[in-house]
Amino acid sequence: MGRTIRIFDTTLRDGEQSPGCSMNLNEKIEVAKVLESLHVDIIEAGFAIASPGDAAAIAAIADNVRGATICSLARCVEKDIDAAWNAIRRAESARIHTFLATSPVHMEYKLKMTPDQVLESVAHNVAYAKKYCADIEFSAEDATRSDLDFLCRVVETAIQAGATTINIPDTVGYMAPDEYAARIRYLREHAKGIENIVLSCHMHNDLGMAVANSLAGVQAGVDQIECTINGIGERAGNASMEECIMALKTRYDHFGIDCKIDTTQIYRASRMIQTITGVSVAPTKPIVGANAFAHESGIHQHGVLANKQTYEIMTPESVGIPKNAIVLGKHSGRHAFEDRLRELGYSLDKEKLDKAFEKFKVLADKKKVIKDRDLEALVGAVPVSGEERYTLDRFVINSGNTITSTAVIRVKKGDELFERAAASDGPINAAFRAINKIVGKDVELADYSLHSMTDGEDAQAEAICKISINGGEVVTGRGVSTDIVEASVKAYINGINKTFLD
Ligand code: KIV
Ligand code: ZN
Repeated sequence: MGRTIRIFDTTLRDGEQSPGCSMNLNEKIEVAKVLESLHVDIIEAGFAIASPGDAAAIAAIADNVRGATICSLARCVEKDIDAAWNAIRRAESARIHTFLATSPVHMEYKLKMTPDQVLESVAHNVAYAKKYCADIEFSAEDATRSDLDFLCRVVETAIQAGATTINIPDTVGYMAPDEYAARIRYLREHAKGIENIVLSCHMHNDLGMAVANSLAGVQAGVDQIECTINGIGERAGNASMEECIMALKTRYDHFGIDCKIDTTQIYRASRMIQTITGVSVAPTKPIVGANAFAHESGIHQHGVLANKQTYEIMTPESVGIPKNAIVLGKHSGRHAFEDRLRELGYSLDKEKLDKAFEKFKVLADKKKVIKDRDLEALVGAVPVSGEERYTLDRFVINSGNTITSTAVIRVKKGDELFERAAASDGPINAAFRAINKIVGKDVELADYSLHSMTDGEDAQAEAICKISINGGEVVTGRGVSTDIVEASVKAYINGINKTFLD
């Protein structure tokens, strides 16, 4: 019998810290729910002291998610620990995760603390957190560039003060796998009390080694992997959850290590993160990229047709990529629609299902064949309650290469209609300007992208607008339509609506 390791997901904390990946409350709850269905062991739901919005999202996740431990990050500072506890206290199972840097460069230049002061702070703050909560994780930030004997003392101090999990992060993504494994073995041999706690790894991907390092850590005796969906995270990201898990599952013969994850939820989780953040994964991304299971060359296709195992080391179904058995169309009824969504891993409440079905009917009038990607796009575009302050009612665009583009946009807010016109050097910008006039806000477009969700002449376009209002936080708006202007206008309005929710 092999070991079973814990999966600690930090998509909502380290992942959300990466530029352009911020999420609102409803989105965070949706992600937490998908993590629940993946059966992750621990969800790091945020950094409670960072903002009241973060604290509220952690508390909402603590109230709504079952079966996983809910965790908040806190610096080794009492007010951080108080905020973390307040946010997670109602969770079925709660964890405070506190951290302090231990490398010479961090201690001297960032913390301006001596090594002795660091040890004192660890002892004091871990014990302080322990008064609230039995489950305490301590992370030695920048552990991989820390002096190994000092790191050993820090680990012992945290354990003596009551830490139940010790995390050895590669904060700057600097390690090579054999080096990291050696570090873990050294700690396991030298740190007193380490046999009684859970040892964790948390790898960043600056040199592209985060997954390899996590697996090396596990082989050297680590009991917990910290990771994110799609590998999102600070700078080059964190270890990708789907890659770590599928490596362990596919190569169980080699690693002999298992985890509780329901791998069939991986694809849905990946799509959800892409939809919410507007950050798409590369087609070549292992496990979830568009080409991960595509066999293009003749030789490969021939081999796969003869026997899938020639070129497939895992099946698309094992990560929840559904077989394209059924395509829907305008004669498909609600049952077929619901069934297909279920097969794709979506279980929507009645309100969302009604809205999705309405959108499906509209789309089915425009497109002959509705494929899985269309359905995913459609479900991703269903607004959550309270998100539709403004909705697009109609638009008229006049554009060409010899004229100034003009846009007339009419939107609905409650029962009222508002219409404005604007001109610009392009049709999309003219439309956005008209919307700015309606909402009367200084909307800044930080990023805009447009791509096709499906193939063929009647493909659906997905527009992503990253906007901020009056210099506030950047939010991601998304719109889907067979018409690129409509998709763009919807994305812009969706972004504006989200700023009102924060
Ligand atoms: O990368 C890091 O060191 C972290 C810690 C807070 C665990 O994210
Ligand atoms: Zn990190």
